[in-house]
Amino acid sequence: MEKINIGLIGLGNIGTGVVKLLQQNKELITQKLGAELILKKIADIDISTPRCVKTDKYQMTTDAREIINDKDISIVIELIGGYEPARTLLLEAINQGKHVVTANKALLARHGNEIFQAAHKKNVDIGFEASVGGTIPIIKTLKESLAANRIDSLWGILNGTANFILTKMTEEGEMFDAVLKEAQKLGFAEADPTFDIEGMDTAHKMAIILSLAYGKKVNLDDIYVEGITKITREDIAFAKELGYRIKLLAIAMLKNDAVEARIHPTMISSAHLLSNVTQNNNAFNIVGDASGPVFLFGQGAGMMPTASAVFSDIVDVARNIMKGISGRVPLRSIDESVMGDIKLIPMEEVETKYYFRFSAVDRPGVLSKISGILGENYISIATVIQKARFENSAVPIVMTTYEAREKNVRQALKVIDKLDIVMDNTMLIRIEDELD
Ligand code: HSE
Repeated sequence: MEKINIGLIGLGNIGTGVVKLLQQNKELITQKLGAELILKKIADIDISTPRCVKTDKYQMTTDAREIINDKDISIVIELIGGYEPARTLLLEAINQGKHVVTANKALLARHGNEIFQAAHKKNVDIGFEASVGGTIPIIKTLKESLAANRIDSLWGILNGTANFILTKMTEEGEMFDAVLKEAQKLGFAEADPTFDIEGMDTAHKMAIILSLAYGKKVNLDDIYVEGITKITREDIAFAKELGYRIKLLAIAMLKNDAVEARIHPTMISSAHLLSNVTQNNNAFNIVGDASGPVFLFGQGAGMMPTASAVFSDIVDVARNIMKGISGRVPLRSIDESVMGDIKLIPMEEVETKYYFRFSAVDRPGVLSKISGILGENYISIATVIQKARFENSAVPIVMTTYEAREKNVRQALKVIDKLDIVMDNTMLIRIEDELD
């Protein structure tokens, strides 16, 4: 039986999962592949701390180049994360003619052009299913299953940590910091958890998805990103009262030849499919012009679900090696040589509905003052809630609006937040009633 040697760089949470899965399902994987995968070497800066898997039968090293320069290894699995040294190591592996499997979304979102072009030049494959949505096959769906479709919209939940936090805050009334610590302990969160809670991890994934959906290069910094750190239990309670749930959503819509792409906390109907996507789960809906909606759901983070996605790429690349081919599926869904730049619509031009929570003094005329400014900016109010009444102290006034333009909303809030009857910056959460 043919043997295919692989090398693993990074024995952290996901790397350990990859070793565990290979040990657990070795026979099954061998049968499906018709070849034996040999994990020849593992590199990590720490090879002494015991992991939850036995590693004594593997060659362990602290030098990743022992894998990159090993002539017998044909697939390099990079699971160290971050920009450097991952970028340098990946480029070196590609230059050595190795196929690469990676879960490194930050790297691909920021340096994807350089890495994919290098791989294209060397005619090697890059598998990156685990970089987006944990175990969910979003990459394969976009690159292969929906290859003949114009993608009209994409939306969903792409960060397990943020979803876990919002779920616990909503269902158990827990505090933000405590839940974040729990997510870190469970191994969902990034090494720097601000990437999860400030929306950057979702943006990394969205940049990768957009490039596959539209066959275009995407500048990560052009995607609008807002995280969940300002969401309070009060907002969650008001959302419930209005019939909504708050989720950190990634949303993209094709508008003529441009794409609206944004990531922000979003109120969606509590009856919406996504409202039932809880814990560390992710879900993503892709609407193709021929396919219609394709809804994908699964665990977006965690050791074994992500290891499963890493293995889908290892098996794919190994199958190509066995047939003596590479580059059968273009790295980013269309040939690298014809990739243009995506045209993203500026956030200020976006139109949606809004939730505002004003912290205002409870005095006669306050509501009319605020609604007057909204009216001057073409913002039409749909509902108003004001409950408590404490003379001369701040009370929350909640308003939801009909569709308004972001530029007008920003202008109105700039004026409102300067009023002496307004005690704190207004909380704004966008509402999406028409994601279907
Ligand atoms: N930190 C990420 C998340 C891991 O919470 O979704 C999976 O990419």
